[in-house]
Amino acid sequence: MKKKILIIFGTRPEAIKMAPLVKDFQHYTDHFESKVCVTAQHREMLDQVLEFFNIKPDFDLDLMKPNQNLSNLTADIIIQLKSILEIFEPDYVFVHGDTTTTMAASIASYYSGAKVCHIEAGLRTQNKWSPFPEEINRQVTGRIADYHFAPTKASKNNLLKENIEESTIVVTGNTVIDALLQSIEKVKVNPSPTVKILSEKLNDKEVVLVTGHRRENHGEGFERICKALKDLALLKPNILIVYPVHLNPKVQEPVNRILQEVPNVILVEPLAYQDFIWLMNRSKIILTDSGGVQEEAPSLGKPVLVMRDTTERPEAVEAGTVILVGTNENLIVSETIDLLENEQRYNAMCMLHNPYGDGKATKRIIEYILTL
Ligand code: UD1
Ligand code: UDP
Repeated sequence: MKKKILIIFGTRPEAIKMAPLVKDFQHYTDHFESKVCVTAQHREMLDQVLEFFNIKPDFDLDLMKPNQNLSNLTADIIIQLKSILEIFEPDYVFVHGDTTTTMAASIASYYSGAKVCHIEAGLRTQNKWSPFPEEINRQVTGRIADYHFAPTKASKNNLLKENIEESTIVVTGNTVIDALLQSIEKVKVNPSPTVKILSEKLNDKEVVLVTGHRRENHGEGFERICKALKDLALLKPNILIVYPVHLNPKVQEPVNRILQEVPNVILVEPLAYQDFIWLMNRSKIILTDSGGVQEEAPSLGKPVLVMRDTTERPEAVEAGTVILVGTNENLIVSETIDLLENEQRYNAMCMLHNPYGDGKATKRIIEYILTL
């Protein structure tokens, strides 16, 4: 009998990191009947990824609401997934990472009796307020999951400390690197119209790429980040700061208010994944609070300043390609300027390495599921 697999995700980063798994399961139709369910916790930003990877979900809950809150979103996901789980009756449900979709889908799947497989398991800060609510989303999912696909040895060790049975943990690398390695050549060979326009706009300027969206930075944190970017732009008029602005209204408002009129800051809509990885590659330095961007940048040899106080991804910090600067205005400005001016330090941070994977994570995940 074929095993029934349901892959559930809802936001942009989950979609990028689940896409290689969705595609690989399609090569095993003798063993598995696999289906995709999107909660659409994100809408436009999810659809951009589905289009690039040519994924057509079997179920689409279409849940996103403008300025949604965590309580309603959590409840809606659990309630709406119930009937999908009853119709399809999966043996295994795959969830990814630490979003509200991840946590709520794990709960709904547990209630339905399906086995829960957690991709990108075991990352921890042990601080329930940072990242909020992702740290607790990931811990709850870890308690529920039957199988844990940890990207690194450090994440496996976190799970062992929580008395998770070792035989249920597999170190796979992060599927974000599978997606990156599968996509980056395509992007170089066949650049999109957006890349051509951006390329002309950027000309030969040094580019500082910025992304940001974390809930714990909403409010004062974002005010400080934007003020730091404005100061940086004024102190370094020859650089271009390019910022694809996340669609969350709590991000859009301060970013547009503080940065719209600054001449060497380019604010753009969230970029399609293929355009964003082109832009990462074109950039000199990346300032971000994103989890996925922290993982991708070392594979592209780009230094990253992380605008957070903690990270559940310590591997690149230990290797020296990522520095934590928090949302401290002075530190963001001084560390960026130092990297722009101090060539020796910059080169030391540019080393190419892949602490988060070798591009074969999905292969390892499927090989493990075949043994069950
Ligand atoms: C969510 C995840 C976060 C993840 C991030 C990736 C939770 C609690 N948060 O944060 O872990 O790192 O996604 O980007 O799970 N919006 C749109 N269109 C979109 C996407 C968002 O308009 O395609 C707007 C909507 O107004 C929406 C709001 O952004 O209500 C917030 O979206 P939500 O998914 O709740 O939070 P994020 O900040 O995106
Ligand atoms: N990304 C993208 N377009 C953008 C910004 C980011 O496709 O304009 C990609 C990026 O390559 C990475 C992922 O989105 O794979 C990170 O998503 P995000 O920062 O929203 O979430 P996080 O990783 O922090 O959960």
